[in-house]
Amino acid sequence: MEQHQRKGRRVVLFPVPLKGHINPMLHLGQILHSNGFSVVVIHTNFNSPDASSYRHFTFHRISDGLDDQDHPATTSNVLSLFPYLNASCLEPFEACLREVVSDAAGEPVACLVVDAHFHFTQGVSKRLRIPRIVLRTGGACSFHLFTALPLLKGKGYLQVQDPKLEDPIVEFPPLKVKDLPAISSSDSDKDKLLQLVISMVSTAKNSAGLILNTFEGLEQPSLDELRRELPVPIFSIGPFHKLCRPANSRSSVAHNKAACISWLDKHNPRSVIYVSFGSIAETKESEFEEIACCLRNSGRPFLWVARPDSDVRTAARISSGLAGDECIVKWAPQLEVLSHPSVGAFWTHCGWNSTMEGISEGVPMICTPCFAEQMVNSRFICDVWRVGVELEMGRNGLERGRIERAIRRLFQEKEGEEIRNRMNDLKEKASLCLKQGEGSSFNAIDGLARHIMLLES
Ligand code: UDX
Repeated sequence: MEQHQRKGRRVVLFPVPLKGHINPMLHLGQILHSNGFSVVVIHTNFNSPDASSYRHFTFHRISDGLDDQDHPATTSNVLSLFPYLNASCLEPFEACLREVVSDAAGEPVACLVVDAHFHFTQGVSKRLRIPRIVLRTGGACSFHLFTALPLLKGKGYLQVQDPKLEDPIVEFPPLKVKDLPAISSSDSDKDKLLQLVISMVSTAKNSAGLILNTFEGLEQPSLDELRRELPVPIFSIGPFHKLCRPANSRSSVAHNKAACISWLDKHNPRSVIYVSFGSIAETKESEFEEIACCLRNSGRPFLWVARPDSDVRTAARISSGLAGDECIVKWAPQLEVLSHPSVGAFWTHCGWNSTMEGISEGVPMICTPCFAEQMVNSRFICDVWRVGVELEMGRNGLERGRIERAIRRLFQEKEGEEIRNRMNDLKEKASLCLKQGEGSSFNAIDGLARHIMLLES
């Protein structure tokens, strides 16, 4: 990316400490740095980013309270984690930010850029008189739905029982009731989710701007709706990862990277199924078996991120028992994998980062959403952009028949060919939006940089 003249201003980033939130925030930091801003990152103890990969940023670590044995939050349950962090980070974050701002040797702080889930930062920004811009790491389609969630609750959609789950949400075509976040959870979880969403939307409405990792050619209708709903400038400047130089990774991931990329090198173009369900979703022991058997029976080579940190023994047993053509890893360099010519399909949980990465590399998807807004993303992938096939969980989780059918649709049926063609068109759009001088994301980044320079404390 082109380097701009230094702007003499610092931007302070504050990511939520989960992979799917830290990665896009750091990518955004790289984009802002390339556009002339100095970048300060305030981060929690938990999941600290690797500062050595971003030597041009300044990092400050704060306590998050997660090492306190009595805390009620688990990192695999965002409904408990997010409210906890919003309370536990308040004091340390405010103290750290005060220090950063009052550092007389530093450039003036132009603004904060915070994850949309850190709603407590609204108060801090007011007290310290620092403008606050919000990064929502999900898509415009789900954020638009979130703005209407209280209304949909009022209409009874969140209380719908089993037989009605297939019904359409008439206000949000083509979404179905079953696509609503937390629809199958307990009433108390639904309430927690609603509270999170209400806080996120209301503090985004009161911010100095909203940044989304998306592009107009993909989500213009949802972006138009959001622009009607939210009285703040909205910048769609994705796909972020296409605008960044890869960070130098010196972690143990490098070992897998070499192994699975050289494994991919040995395969025919578009022959491999890449399987990854992101960094949070957990796979049940019975599902490991179903996945492994179906992939093996499909006769296709597959690269599977089994994330044994969630189930070490099962993955180890399965990988030693398999005799087909597969590569099973704990973690893969996903961007490199998706851009590899051997990869012909991406079996994904439809986390937003994975969705954007799959689209911008033009890899057709098999969609198995797990939680949060992933069902919404999946519906858009399968029914709006029509670049993937749905592979829903059955009553007992992932089921053999459904998996086999999805793989057949994508690789053997005419439908698969059509999906591939549409995906190529979308990949092209993703690339055009970054074009210097004329692409929508390219111009939006320019607009964002000017907007930040005009913000007044
Ligand atoms: C999730 C989802 O974004 C979202 O649905 C929800 O709001 C909470 O966070 P996650 O489950 O991690 O995050 O999925 P995703 O958004 O796809 O992000 C995963 C990131 O990790 C991607 O950038 C992907 O490239 C990376 N990754 C994943 C790897 O680099 N290697 C892997 O093996 C797996």
